Amino acid sequence: MFITFEGIDGCGKSTQLILLKETLEQKGFKVITLREPGGTQLSEQIRDILLSNKSQINDISELLLFQAARANLVENIIKPALENDIFVLCDRFYDSTTAYQGYGRMIDLDIVKTCNIIAVNGLKPDLTFYLKLPLDVAKERSHKRDLDRIENAGDSFYKRVLLGYELIAREEPERIKIICSNGTIENTKNEILKNIPILNQ
Ligand code: TYD
Repeated sequence: MFITFEGIDGCGKSTQLILLKETLEQKGFKVITLREPGGTQLSEQIRDILLSNKSQINDISELLLFQAARANLVENIIKPALENDIFVLCDRFYDSTTAYQGYGRMIDLDIVKTCNIIAVNGLKPDLTFYLKLPLDVAKERSHKRDLDRIENAGDSFYKRVLLGYELIAREEPERIKIICSNGTIENTKNEILKNIPILNQ
């Protein structure tokens, strides 16, 4: 099963991903966790370029670099793992591109979606958790002093990203579960676990 976590920076995705990994492993499942961009040598190198404040990247180059990192991760790691019945938990996937490059950077959504399709070559998450959190709360929680290149895009960018996530989630309610991550870590964890069919049989 392929499960992805989405949401703005500071929403708690990474924490919840680790908690879900632990729960699944306790039940005897094999699990790998990944992050996007990243997960292979090439994709980690692309990540460094994308997040560095020294990089001067126009919006289309940014879109294509995220997709290049993704294509490499999908073919080399995600697809082989799924073929071996390993649970794949990924911190961000193509919904991030639709939200950040589509809604955030305002690149034509058809172009973004076509690039998503090319990069994943038919792969789709079975389940996606969108961890929803208001911008001010997310900012308070993340306490980061050194913002990366994307995080430096500013509040109006993030407001568009949040709106984007809402619309993306509404388009695919079967796949994308909206989880309010305003409460405690434990509450959010329990909401997530309720939505994993294999844990509720
Ligand atoms: P990361 O440090 O992983 O952020 P977070 O901890 O919030 O997940 O950096 C990933 C950044 O890249 C994050 O700001 C979101 C952005 N991003 C995109 O803009 N488009 C994408 O397709 C992906 C995967 C990430």
